[in-house]
Amino acid sequence: MAPASPNRPSQKRDAALVRDFAAIVLAAGMGTRMRSDLPKVLHEVAGRSLLGHVLDSLDRIGCGRTVVVVGPDMPAVEAVAVGRQIAIQSERRGTGHAAAMAREALAGFAGPILILYGDVPLIRPETLERLLDAVPTRPIAMLGFRPADPTGYGRVLKTPDGLAGRIVEQKDASDEERRIDLCNAGIYAVEGARLFGLLDRLTADNAQGELYLTDIVAHAGGAVVIEAPAAEVQGVNSRLDLAEVEAEMQRRLRRAALEGGTTLRDPGTVYLSVDTRFGRDVVVGQHVVFGPGVTLGDRVEIRPFTHIEGATIQAGATVGPFSRLRPGAELGADVHVGNFVEIKASRLEAGVKAGHLAYIGDATVGAGTNIGAGTITANYDGYSKNRTVIGEGAFIGSNSTLVAPVSVGKGALVAAGSTITKPVAENELAVARGMQKGVPDGAARYRARRRKD
Ligand code: UD1
Ligand code: CA
Repeated sequence: MAPASPNRPSQKRDAALVRDFAAIVLAAGMGTRMRSDLPKVLHEVAGRSLLGHVLDSLDRIGCGRTVVVVGPDMPAVEAVAVGRQIAIQSERRGTGHAAAMAREALAGFAGPILILYGDVPLIRPETLERLLDAVPTRPIAMLGFRPADPTGYGRVLKTPDGLAGRIVEQKDASDEERRIDLCNAGIYAVEGARLFGLLDRLTADNAQGELYLTDIVAHAGGAVVIEAPAAEVQGVNSRLDLAEVEAEMQRRLRRAALEGGTTLRDPGTVYLSVDTRFGRDVVVGQHVVFGPGVTLGDRVEIRPFTHIEGATIQAGATVGPFSRLRPGAELGADVHVGNFVEIKASRLEAGVKAGHLAYIGDATVGAGTNIGAGTITANYDGYSKNRTVIGEGAFIGSNSTLVAPVSVGKGALVAAGSTITKPVAENELAVARGMQKGVPDGAARYRARRRKD
C-alpha cells in the first residue's frame, strides 16, 4: 500500500542521525489578515492544520526536540503540538520575541536549531536538511525564494560575497529595496550556542515596533542563503494564500498518487488528504473528494462524484457514482455501493450490494446480503444511536425501514416496503406492511362516478 503523501521520510538522516538538532516553531501570531476566530495555524490544508504540516516535516527528518511557541489563549494550538515542548508568548512583540520564548526549553543546547514559522506549511524535509547541512559554514543559514509577487515578504539584501547581509521587511523597505525579488522564506538554521545571544541584541526600532527575528542575520554578520522553489515556502497570511497553498498541496498529492500507480481519470477534480492511502490498481473517477482517514485496497474503483472520509475499503469494491461514505464506514472485499447511498459507522462484509438510495448507519451487514433501494436504518430515536445487525445472505426489499435496535437473521427476507421493529429470525420472511386489497373493476367504477360529479 503506497501512501499518497509526497513527503518521504529522509533516508539520509535516518541512517546517519549523527547530528543532534532542535527546532522552534513560531505559532503565537493572531493571523489578523485571515479574518478568522480560529488561530491561523489551525486552518487546514489537505485535511491537516498548517502547524500539523510543519510538525510533520520535522518528524520526517527525525527532530526529537521541538519547541512550539504559542499564544497564552490557544489551547487548541497546544493540542496540535501534543508531545512537543510548549513555550508561551504572552505578548505578541514580533517574531524575534517569539523565538526568544524557547530560551528555557533549549537552555544549554549548542547544536543547530531550526526556526520555522507555523504558517509556512509546504516545506519539504529534504529542504530542511539542506539548511541544516549549511550551518557549519556560518552561524546562520536561511531559505530564500523568488515569488512571482514579492509584496509583503522580507527582502534579502546580499553582500558582494553572496551572503545575506540583512533582511528588510516590506514596511521598512525603500522603493529600491522593494524591487529586490529575493525574499525571506522565514525558515532558518542557527547555531544553538549563538541564537539567544543574537536575540538579546534585537531592538524594536522599525516600522512595526516589533522585535524582528530577521535582524539576527545582520547581527551575525550575514547568513548563507539557500534558495528554495517558491511553491514550497509560500506563507499563509490570508484566505487567498490558504487557497493557493491548498492547490499546491493537491498538485503534490495527485502527482504522488499517480506515481504510486493510482489512476485518476481527471486529476484536477480529485481532492486528496495527506493520509489518503491507495492499494494497487485503484481507479478514481472524476470529482471525488477524499477527506481524512481513507484507505483503499487493491483494485477498488471509486466512481465519479463520491465523497469519502474516515473509511476503509477492501479489495475489489466499487463505490459510486454519487455515494457518500462517512467516518467508520468499512467495506469488505467486492462490496458494491451505488448512487445516493450513505454509509456511516457500519461494516459491510464481503460482497454486500447496496446499489441505490439507502442510508446505512450504525449497522453490520453480513457477507453477500442485498440492500434494496430505499432501505433506511432508523438508527436515531432523538436521544441515542442504535444498532442494526443484518446476517449474511439476507435480502432487504426495497423501501424498508429497519427501526434500530433490531436484527435480521442470516438468509432472512424482508418484504419490500416493510417497517421492521422486531427481530427477524434466520431464514424468516418478514412482511410488515399493509396487506394489498383488490377491488375488481374498481378503477373503472371510480372514474365513472367522478365523471357524473
Ligand atoms: C515574516 C518575516 C518575513 C518573511 C515572512 C515569510 C519577520 C519579521 N518577517 O513576515 O521576512 O518574508 O515571514 O513568510 O520575521 N509570530 C509569533 N509571535 C509574534 C509574531 C509572529 O509567534 O509575536 C509567528 C506567527 O504565528 C507566524 C510567524 O511567526 O507563524 C510569522 O509571523 P507573521 O506575522 O506572519 O510574519 P510575516 O509578516 O509574514
Ligand atoms: Ca507570515
